[in-house]
Amino acid sequence: MSKIKLVYCLLLVGLGSCAYLLESCQSNPYVHGEILYENFCANCHMEDGTGLIGNIPPLAGADFLTKYADQLPCIIRYGVTDTLTVNGKQYAAPMAGIPELTDIEVTNVINYINHAWGNDNGFTRPTDVQVILEGCK
Ligand code: HEC
Repeated sequence: MSKIKLVYCLLLVGLGSCAYLLESCQSNPYVHGEILYENFCANCHMEDGTGLIGNIPPLAGADFLTKYADQLPCIIRYGVTDTLTVNGKQYAAPMAGIPELTDIEVTNVINYINHAWGNDNGFTRPTDVQVILEGCK
């Protein structure tokens, strides 16, 4: 945040809430992942991560994300055609891969979906994603 903005902020909202605003502006580490999600995933999995009943599995509150955490990088890059069980329901429609995302972008989008919509699934490191991606196919 620039000095000018900081001064404005102080003038407008006072010291206490300004500190809060600064904190909330700077502590969202998922901005990049969120943009990627909106561009590459939200048209199917929806903005709110709920998917489409019967066809597209949810990401919000999805047990799959923690149960099969190791598969996420490969699914995102290469897609998946198996029938998947998510929160006890089966999904058979295939998902195409998104090969244009780099290893870092795959990591950022995974960290985003693992923390969006109330999800709290821990962090994935780029180095781990890289190793998994090398072993996918
Ligand atoms: C064209 C639609 C489409 C797009 C775009 C898409 N997905 Fe999917 N996704 C699906 C479908 C359909 C499945 C179920 C695949 C199956 O059952 O074989 C799925 C499955 C998944 C799963 C495993 C199941 C679950 O719900 O946890 C994850 C994780 C996932 N997608 C993440 C993503 C991410 C992240 C992106 C963007 C980078 C993305 N998907 C883009 C349609 C899509």
